[in-house]
Amino acid sequence: MNANNSAVPRLEVRGLSTSFATDAGRIQSVADVSFSIHPGQTLALVGESGSGKSVTSLSLMGLHAKTSQAQVQGEALFVKRDGQRVDLLKLPEADKRALRGNELGMIFQEPMTSLNPVLTIGEQIAESVRLHLGLDRKAALAHAQRMLELVEIPAARQRVHEYPHQLSGGMRQRVMIALAMACNPTLLIADEPTTALDVTIQAQILALMGRLQKETGMSMLFVTHNLGVVAQYADAVAVMYAGRIVESAPVHELFAAPAHPYTRGLLACLPGVARQHGGAHAGGRRQLVAIPGQVSSPLAPPPGCAFAPRCQYARAECNAAMPSLDRAGGERMVRCIGFTEITKEAA
Ligand SMILES: Nc1ncnc2c1ncn2[C@@H]1O[C@H](COP(=O)(O)OP(=O)(O)OP(=O)(O)O)[C@@H](O)[C@H]1O
Ligand SMILES: [Mg+2]
Repeated sequence: MNANNSAVPRLEVRGLSTSFATDAGRIQSVADVSFSIHPGQTLALVGESGSGKSVTSLSLMGLHAKTSQAQVQGEALFVKRDGQRVDLLKLPEADKRALRGNELGMIFQEPMTSLNPVLTIGEQIAESVRLHLGLDRKAALAHAQRMLELVEIPAARQRVHEYPHQLSGGMRQRVMIALAMACNPTLLIADEPTTALDVTIQAQILALMGRLQKETGMSMLFVTHNLGVVAQYADAVAVMYAGRIVESAPVHELFAAPAHPYTRGLLACLPGVARQHGGAHAGGRRQLVAIPGQVSSPLAPPPGCAFAPRCQYARAECNAAMPSLDRAGGERMVRCIGFTEITKEAA
């Protein structure tokens, strides 16, 4: 398949489902996840802890631990640099390995676990560049230094010879970004790349990633808890709840008028952000409000909508069957049988 056409998404995920073997039985951690990311665009994936954001990212990269006996289904059609369209979920392991760290970059949730403590940061970047871009040792080290300069690590010439433990958390995160970007990926999957950092450094790093993205036309899947970050940096947003996408839309549409009751609940926590986007949802509350209730167990999920037990609008039909993710005007998709009435009532 050849798809060198800007109308074709860089990544098109259809019906991604992932389950794991556990002592208590097989659990479905991600189900029926579909989304597209176009060249140069950022899709933010949001949702509370345990909703399946990291499992989605790791499934796309093919990086689940063998011991978890992950079963991954669906399609993830990725347009390679040469225009060829491949299904990431069905590629042989050797082909996946050739893409990872090269056309497919990833920044993990825990930076310390993905940096090698016994290699200098320069050697780590150089190793990846040597492997994927075929540079010799000297050229690779020079490239590593340039990458450290690009992510604004001060005194990069000296730092290139330091080990991860010699750097602060913020510097290590920059190294992770340099490493992920060293081979000029066309798609970057960034799982909470800045959550562990203080807000000033977080803002600097996000601005930097945005700049690099503009220069390279890279697409990005950006996992975050932070809706303020989404509002500022993403083009589109997909909201996950209990392993499924419950709503996805261009970012300004979602903030201006959230349709799914769960999205409404999330945004009620953030009146300031909603107001920036002109949302009717811009209430006066400044305190974060928790949505009452608990997520149901993935081992024995009830048959209906997973959010129904916590939904103030739930009615009997909601518990009958899982709603499908349906188009709700324009590019918005919503998984809720009552959203039309709910939206009207709220207006
Ligand atoms: N290897 C595994 N084996 C069994 N269950 C797993 C495995 N990895 C993840 N899970 C489960 O899958 C669900 C989704 O987890 P995931 O890590 O994707 O959440 P998340 O949205 O990234 O949360 P957070 O915001 O805390 O990072 C959770 O219930 C988690 O316990
Ligand atoms: Mg996670």
